[in-house]
Amino acid sequence: MLNPVVAIDGPAASGKSTVARKLAAKLNFVYVDTGAMYRAFAWLALEKNIDPADRAAISGLLESVKFELAISGGAIAMKLNGTDPAPFIREERINAAVSKIAAIPELRERLVIEQRKLRNLSPLVMEGRDIGTVVFTDTIFKFFLDADPVIRAQRRQLQGQADAITKRDQQDSNRAVAPLTKAADATLVDATYDDADAIVGKILQICRDKGLSQAKVDAL
Ligand code: DC
Repeated sequence: MLNPVVAIDGPAASGKSTVARKLAAKLNFVYVDTGAMYRAFAWLALEKNIDPADRAAISGLLESVKFELAISGGAIAMKLNGTDPAPFIREERINAAVSKIAAIPELRERLVIEQRKLRNLSPLVMEGRDIGTVVFTDTIFKFFLDADPVIRAQRRQLQGQADAITKRDQQDSNRAVAPLTKAADATLVDATYDDADAIVGKILQICRDKGLSQAKVDAL
């Protein structure tokens, strides 16, 4: 039997990370932030003075990189060439570079393969831009979180971050491969006004109605 996956997609600062993390904790599933993987490669490219939009150079980097993705203590552990990139991937220079590298097909192919492998290890709540449309098209637990762009920009400011989210959304939505879009069978969740707990409750209810691991959901 395949492990269940809850797929959560949506634009930047839609609240999907908070929602996905809380949902995973409630379900006792592993939380997977796929944006962190694209950010990690953006960081590596910048460290090596490689233009994140340079397809040939990034393809070359992929051939030599040691990419380790594991589940440790119920969470994702990632290393690039032996280094955990987590402390560096929320920097503003990464915000500015990540959509460029995320448009490179060879990188997407590689990461999709790695993301799919995680399902063999654990039930997952995976969030990103293409989880319902590309990575796990077969899951019936698909959600697309959206929120008013003004509210999303305010959220980023409150986090003390400069992040041109509208520009990033445009780049993510207009790229040729795996553009940000709602899967036809995903449930649209408006996260403009509800707080994260209310949204988690809504998503849990829908998952329960669709038969997701009744025992775990009931044990909340
Ligand atoms: O979720 P985030 O803002 O940390 O994601 C950073 C960038 O990574 C986002 O602008 C687009 C890209 N991304 C992607 O293309 N596909 C994913 N599944 C996740 C993120």
